[in-house]
Amino acid sequence: MRKKITIVGAGHVGATSAMRVAEKDLADVVLIDVLEGVPAGKALDLAEAAPIEKHDAKITGLTADYSESKDSDIVIITAGIPRKPGMSRDDLLSTNMGIMRGVTKEVAAAAPNAILIIVSNPLDAMCHVAYEASGFPKNRVIGMAGVLDSARFRAFIAMELNVSVENTHAFVLGGHGDTMVPLPRYSTVAGIPITELMSPERIEVLADRTRNGGAEIVGLLKTGSAYYAPSSAAVEMAEAILKDKKKILPCAAFLEGEYGIDGLFIGVPVKLGENGVEEIIEIKLTAEEEKALGRSADAVRSLVEDLKRLG
Ligand code: NAI
Ligand code: 2OP
Repeated sequence: MRKKITIVGAGHVGATSAMRVAEKDLADVVLIDVLEGVPAGKALDLAEAAPIEKHDAKITGLTADYSESKDSDIVIITAGIPRKPGMSRDDLLSTNMGIMRGVTKEVAAAAPNAILIIVSNPLDAMCHVAYEASGFPKNRVIGMAGVLDSARFRAFIAMELNVSVENTHAFVLGGHGDTMVPLPRYSTVAGIPITELMSPERIEVLADRTRNGGAEIVGLLKTGSAYYAPSSAAVEMAEAILKDKKKILPCAAFLEGEYGIDGLFIGVPVKLGENGVEEIIEIKLTAEEEKALGRSADAVRSLVEDLKRLG
């Protein structure tokens, strides 16, 4: 039987994710939005590209209707509002909390066995909302951020050293915000740590560009935020789960004591397979890295406190 992925939010990230899923022939896609006509129009447009792109994915677009989401293997939630110039991800908190809660209840009822990949911002806080609203076990609620932030770091490393992006590997942990924690010691080119290939000053420039990677694109686009790399990241996670790849990727996962953090979603290396988060990988951190992760966790915790205040 073909796999099925529901994507909620047929905007930039949602529609591009639908395209990537279809073009990889990973699964059938159900694309849902509150907008009238938009999900159906985008689904039809994608279906009409299928003969050229050579895939057989069935793509359905629906407005506020979750009936076709039944038995979805994965639900990617991108519904919400994106950042405008000058807005922080946290400014989105209140609006996206309401949207996330409503959408998650719908998908949890329609697809009670699905694995949720959360994309909407502020990411780590939205994972909390989805976790509570779905009642799903922690292994089936996963946030997309670390894969994107690490891909940005990898792209900047490849540009700096004039090497193939395929030779690069990087880990960016922590919350998806200004406090995210790029880890140069665990970032490599052909297995060589970048700490041996670049000066600390250049590494800091690239790490800082990574931390501001989302804002850099918002500043250029002016009318929204990034979506090509974010959709690639979400679909890499979906593929790892659907194909039970046991792939180690940095994702927002619910921690219960790992890294000394309790009761919080935050970005850490996890093993992704058919059960979602199958293992949280605890890598050794220096005192300084641990402190940075702690600061990032504090920032996420304060957003979660804000969520509680907002009700
Ligand atoms: P967009 O505005 O292009 O699309 C969002 C879509 O959600 C819109 O079509 C809107 O009609 C829809 N929507 C709103 N309420 C809904 C509801 N109740 N049910 C179904 N659909 C609903 O925005 P874009 O660029 O696709 O970004 C989506 C979200 O993802 C934003 O919150 C953005 O900040 C976040 N994002 C997160 C990233 C990450 O690394 N975690 C990376 C990129 C974006
Ligand atoms: C990004 O990092 C806006 O969170 C989004 O591009």
